[in-house]
Amino acid sequence: MEKTVKKVKRIEGSLRVPSDKSISHRAIILSSLADGISIVKNFLKAGDTLTTVNAYRKLGVEIVEKEGVYYIHGKGLDGLKEPDDFLDMGNSGTTTRLTLGVLAGFNFFTALTGDDSLRKRPMKRVAEPLSKMGAKIDGRKDGNLLPISIRGGKLTGIDFFNEKMSAQVKSAILLAGLFAKGETTVIEPVISRDHTENMLNSMGAYVSREFTKDGYRVTVKKADKLNPIHINVPADPSSAAFFAAAASVIPGSHIELKDVLVNPTRDGFFRKLKEMGAKVEYKNKRDEAGEIVADIYVSYHELKGVKVKPKEVPSMIDEIPLLAIIATQAEGETVITGAHELRVKESDRIKSVIENFKRLGLEAEELPDGMIIRGKQKVKGGIVDSYKDHRVAMGFAILGLVSEEGITIKDADCVYISYPEFFNHLEKVSK
Ligand code: S3P
Repeated sequence: MEKTVKKVKRIEGSLRVPSDKSISHRAIILSSLADGISIVKNFLKAGDTLTTVNAYRKLGVEIVEKEGVYYIHGKGLDGLKEPDDFLDMGNSGTTTRLTLGVLAGFNFFTALTGDDSLRKRPMKRVAEPLSKMGAKIDGRKDGNLLPISIRGGKLTGIDFFNEKMSAQVKSAILLAGLFAKGETTVIEPVISRDHTENMLNSMGAYVSREFTKDGYRVTVKKADKLNPIHINVPADPSSAAFFAAAASVIPGSHIELKDVLVNPTRDGFFRKLKEMGAKVEYKNKRDEAGEIVADIYVSYHELKGVKVKPKEVPSMIDEIPLLAIIATQAEGETVITGAHELRVKESDRIKSVIENFKRLGLEAEELPDGMIIRGKQKVKGGIVDSYKDHRVAMGFAILGLVSEEGITIKDADCVYISYPEFFNHLEKVSK
C-alpha cells in the first residue's frame, strides 16, 4: 500500500497512542514462565507483539483474549513444550532474541525463522553468550542468521559485557540466567531499557542492580518460580514521539499524549526535543506497575539543531530516524554519532533516511555511525521508500505534513508492526 501525506495547517488534539511494544512483548514472554494466570490490560495488538503471542502458543502456553484483556496461563519455569514446527518470528527482533534466551533453559529442539528483514539481522550477539552458558545453537552464516536452531540444557551463569548496549541481548541473557547455576551478570557502559529487570523484580525473581564508574550492572540468580503479574501496559513513547515531533515543527500546534511511558531509559527523544526548543511538559506523573507514566504536552516552538552524543543514543535509539527528519526543519546543523546500531534494525536506518533525503532533495551527510543534517530546508515533496520499516514509514509521514506538495510513502502498511492506527490518528489530529 502507498500512502500520501500532505501539508496541514497545524496539529491539534489529544491521543492515547498504542501501548508499549517492549513491555507488551515482555508481558507475554515472562508470564508464560510464571506459576499461574497473568492478566495484561492494554496489550499492544500489532504485528510484532502478535508474533510473540503466536510463538508462545506454539510453545504450549494458553493465551486467551477476552474483551481486550489478555490472560496468560503460565507454565512455570519447566513447562514449555517442544514446538512441532518452525517458530515464525515474522519481523520481530525482540521476540527472537528474548525467546532464544528462554529456550536456552529448555532441553528440547526449536527452529526459528523470520521474514526477509529478520533473516538478515545479527543473532550471534545472543547466540554466543547463550552458547557460553551451555545452550546448543546453530544457524546460517556460522550461527549468526536465521533460520537458527536451539537446544537448551544445563546452563551456568556468566558475566557479560554488553558493549552494544542492546536491551534485547541483555534480556536474553538475564532470562537464561533464571535457569542457570549461580549468578548471571550483565554490565553495560550506559543502561539500556530496563523493562526485563523491572518485570522480573515484580514477579519475585532475584534482581540486583547498581550503577558503578563502569556503568550499570544487573545480576539475576537461578529462580525456583515466578509469580504471575497483573499489568496495565502504558502508551509507547516511541509511537508518541511521531506526534510530539509533528507538533514541534508545525507553527500553532499543540498535542496531548496520554498515559505515556516515561521511563528514563526510554524518554531520551522527549528530552532532546526540549533541548531543541520545543515546549515539552510532563503532567500527572505516576507509577504504574514499576514503570513511570505521564501525560505529555507538546507545543510548537522554533527548533534549533543539536548534537546527539553516543551515551545519549540508548534512550532514544528507535527515535533517531525521526530526530534526523525533524532536524531538517531546525535552525542550524544536527550531528548524530554513536548510533551504529541503527544499521542493523528492521532496515539500515541510516541508509534508509539518507536515501529518502536524496529522493526529496534534502541535504545530509552519512557517517558510519550517524548523520549530519542541514537545518531549515524546504521540503517540496516526492516519493520515498519505507524499506518495509515501520519507523521509517511513520517518520517520513511526519515530514509530509510540512511538505509543499505531499510525500508518498511506498509500502506504508508496515506501520502495522507497531502502530496499526497510525494513519487514522494522524488524520484525527491534522487540522
Ligand atoms: C528493544 C530493544 C532495542 C529497540 C527495539 C526494542 C527491546 O533493540 O531498538 O525496538 O524491546 O528490548 P536493541 O536491543 O537491539 O538495541
